[in-house]
Amino acid sequence: MALIPFDDRDGTIWWDGALVPWRDAKLHVLSHGLHYASAVFEGERAYSGHIFRLRDHTNRLINSARILGFELPYAADQIDAACKEVLAANNLTDAYVRPIAWRGTEQLAVSAQLTTIHLAIAVWPWPSYFGAERMKGIRLGMGEWKRPAPDTAPTASKAAGLYMIGTLSKHKAEAAGFDDALMLDWRGRVAEATGANIFFNMGGELHTPDPDCFLDGITRRTVMSLARKHQIKVIERAILPEEMAKASEVFLAGTAAEVTPVRQIGEYHFTPGDMTATLLKEYEALVRQSPEEVARVVAG
Ligand SMILES: Cc1ncc(COP(=O)(O)O)c(C=O)c1O
Repeated sequence: MALIPFDDRDGTIWWDGALVPWRDAKLHVLSHGLHYASAVFEGERAYSGHIFRLRDHTNRLINSARILGFELPYAADQIDAACKEVLAANNLTDAYVRPIAWRGTEQLAVSAQLTTIHLAIAVWPWPSYFGAERMKGIRLGMGEWKRPAPDTAPTASKAAGLYMIGTLSKHKAEAAGFDDALMLDWRGRVAEATGANIFFNMGGELHTPDPDCFLDGITRRTVMSLARKHQIKVIERAILPEEMAKASEVFLAGTAAEVTPVRQIGEYHFTPGDMTATLLKEYEALVRQSPEEVARVVAG
């Protein structure tokens, strides 16, 4: 597939309260967000015209900014409305939604207290991958970069800067022929993939690492609700890499990845099976429900 650069597309982007033509949504090169990674973002998906768990994403965006020491100049209701507005303006019902907030150009130094806070929201088609091909599973290499401790980096924020080690890990994995990397944390425990959380079927129970130094993903929490609904025991705990030998099934969960079966992590091999297929199907069905039904299921 030919790559179409993101600045060479048509459409409309919401930027600081207005809809602007896609090609005009340009940023000055001396923006603080670019130089010092003072930016936070979200990754959301719309299905059948509804953005899945929109308010949860919006709240996380606001909180991510607060963790980086800035306040978004919009309330959650306004951000939700803007996400819906830009989706409609682009005539999309099934799409990826990318809000991003960043510090502007007033100061270009480590200290940036006086910078203006900007918010932009873009949407574009990003198809989900269905069917038998998906159930074959992807292959992960072991990443060398560790997820940092929560007192080393603002790990609860979906902050742009935290993706630096993700990109390095993913590039290395891709160069070795893998699809993605499994990242360990600063203690050497299993953490997550570069853009999704991870789950293991161990003896019929669903095990997943405690999200104490990486994102407690919205998809992760959704999948845990779906598992409990199916009487699958969910266990959040510290998982050591050598314990992967005990897992029969592994999958990733994230907004972009949705539920993605994994067939290999480094030296360990798995066979995507019933638990993965059930949760994958349930997730695919849930995301197309009304926001009210989604709220009911994830609350239960
Ligand atoms: C590093 C990382 N971990 C986990 C997730 C999963 O989060 P969510 O399910 O909220 O999309 C994402 C995706 O946003 C991510 O980028």
